[in-house]
Amino acid sequence: MRRRQNFGPFSEKVHGLLHGADYNPDQWLDRPEILEQDIDLMKQAGMNVMSVGIFSWAKLEPVEGHFEFDWLDQVLDRLHDTGIQVILATPSAARPVWMSRSYPEVLRMDEDRVRHLHGGRQNHCFTSPVYRAKVREIDRRLAERYGTHPAVIAWHVSNEFEGFGCHCPLCQEAFRNWLKKRYHNDLDALNHAWWTSFWSHTYQDWSEIESPSPIGEHEVHGLTLDWHRFVSDQTLDFMLEECRILRDITPELPLTTNFHDFVSLDRGLNYWDFAKALDVISWDNYPYWHAEGRTVAEEAARRAFIHDMNRSFKQGKPFLLMESSPSATNWQEVAKLRRPGMQNLSSIQAVAHGADTVQYFQWRKSLGSSEKFHGAVVDHYASPDTRVFREVAALGRELPAMTDIIGTSVAAEVAIIYDWENAWILGDTQGPRKEGIDYFDTCVRHYKALWDRGVAVDVIDADQDLSGYKLVIAPMLYMIRDGFGAKVEEYVRNGGHFVTTYWSGITDGTDLCFETGRPGPLRKVLGIWSEEIDVLYDSDANHVGGYEARIFCDLIHTEGADTLLTYDEDFYAGGPALTCNRFGKGEAWYIAFRSYDGFLSDFYGDRIRAYGIERALETDLPEGVTATIREDEVRRFCFLQNYSGTKQTVELPYPMQDLLSKDRVQRLVMAPYSYNILS
Ligand code: GLA
Ligand code: ZN
Repeated sequence: MRRRQNFGPFSEKVHGLLHGADYNPDQWLDRPEILEQDIDLMKQAGMNVMSVGIFSWAKLEPVEGHFEFDWLDQVLDRLHDTGIQVILATPSAARPVWMSRSYPEVLRMDEDRVRHLHGGRQNHCFTSPVYRAKVREIDRRLAERYGTHPAVIAWHVSNEFEGFGCHCPLCQEAFRNWLKKRYHNDLDALNHAWWTSFWSHTYQDWSEIESPSPIGEHEVHGLTLDWHRFVSDQTLDFMLEECRILRDITPELPLTTNFHDFVSLDRGLNYWDFAKALDVISWDNYPYWHAEGRTVAEEAARRAFIHDMNRSFKQGKPFLLMESSPSATNWQEVAKLRRPGMQNLSSIQAVAHGADTVQYFQWRKSLGSSEKFHGAVVDHYASPDTRVFREVAALGRELPAMTDIIGTSVAAEVAIIYDWENAWILGDTQGPRKEGIDYFDTCVRHYKALWDRGVAVDVIDADQDLSGYKLVIAPMLYMIRDGFGAKVEEYVRNGGHFVTTYWSGITDGTDLCFETGRPGPLRKVLGIWSEEIDVLYDSDANHVGGYEARIFCDLIHTEGADTLLTYDEDFYAGGPALTCNRFGKGEAWYIAFRSYDGFLSDFYGDRIRAYGIERALETDLPEGVTATIREDEVRRFCFLQNYSGTKQTVELPYPMQDLLSKDRVQRLVMAPYSYNILS
């Protein structure tokens, strides 16, 4: 949102950009010399924060009811003495073996109704009263003991809440209760919303309802959609229980939980709901740099999109980059090494989009178990003279020069709607193509046309306020929940500019199709009616004014909108493919086809000029280079980033000061994978 404001640091105890890592001293308690060496290396790497205790439950409560905190006392004291602050975790993401053995109900049950054995992590039942009681107990003890420890600046609640539901009897009961509430105890309403008359699915009693299995293939889509919602709500309810106890005892300590890099997940949680419960957002960023079939710049745009979403969760408030790998991961299909420069460019990208920290997973590589080959600041051979350590330490030396950036943010005039419930339902719905719906990638393709030009974008969901934006883009908004159509009408009537595409306005909030003609509640504001949609094979193309139309070709009729482009081929040649409807003081655009070529770039280039949307720099950026602004009422920082893999020259519109070299510059020659921060 176009707001130039300083949000301040997320905690009064924070005085600069934080630089740190997940720290697991509990793996090394029998090696005091390692713990000493850690402190020495942390100083050398310019670290000032550590996230501690994330998976420590077995060390904190080795035997039921028997607690051991001395080791953690010493770790926190030692860090504090060195001037390193601590983000203290609750250990609820992984439980000790004794708990799984004594209380099997804490173990998650999969959709095939088979309970997990002990092992793994983040695989507990979110409903289990025993698990919740055990979590409350350990959280209470941690809060009482460390709430006022001078090193501790925030709570890291659990770890990476994900979208895996538990299908145990306790969760089935909770699901049914959730449904009773949602449908006001009216089973007929549920039967209607889920269209259960289809294939004899009608329920006569609440007790007949069960979670969908297999989830992705269940035919009652309303049930699957509500299950996603329930899993999200139940996980949130679990987190809120942790938050409540921490807030009661330590009201002054900010709470965060590290959001998952949801791109790698099939089905996430609705983090918009989680965001409301947190004081500050943090997330874990694991990019695929140098990947096969995707340029570094394309990956950078995907990452930028998620950074922008995390910043938007709290209306622009800076977030924490809680985790990022200082080199490879152990879980990507092919974990290529970062090319020189890429590591720190990746970190600075987060700062450029609103992060006030650069944190890594992990500080030191473990000697054993599944993450022993995951990137870390410190290798098994713990020398500071490694490429990774040197790059991390170089950033550690630069960050203090950026202290003024704290609290500034990105002021966007454009918003892209990426809607979680829409993502869930698009993943489950059947037709008009089995594969290639690609909701996330489609949103990113629209986004990249703006990213290439250095235009700031917020990434929001359909429930957010639109009124502050000059341009709102809603690609493939298949599901239109109550109220959204009226909101868009009001936004456009008052001078807003709205863009949407094919496969939008198809179903309502329960996934029932609109009977009012597609695109349903958006039909009036767009001034079009979509009669049919043609889908193409991957190798097919139609053409639209010199551009290729791929995968989706929507066959629309105008009802007041102007036709700007038409289809060249097939039985719908001459039919509208791009329309614009003047509505009140604004405009509503409909892009009827998908494109992979220059169409989106040209289209958004025109929109930016027409609506006077600001770019970070009023200059054309070379391919693979982007620019981002962080600002408040008095400060303005420009982050130039070169993802092109080759040297690039950028001519600035006027001389600026380089924050790191302190030089005044107007012509910049940027090395591959490098950045400049200008003020
Ligand atoms: C997640 C987890 C970390 C670690 C990393 C590895 O982000 O939160 O504990 O497993 O993945 O990439
Ligand atoms: Zn359960």
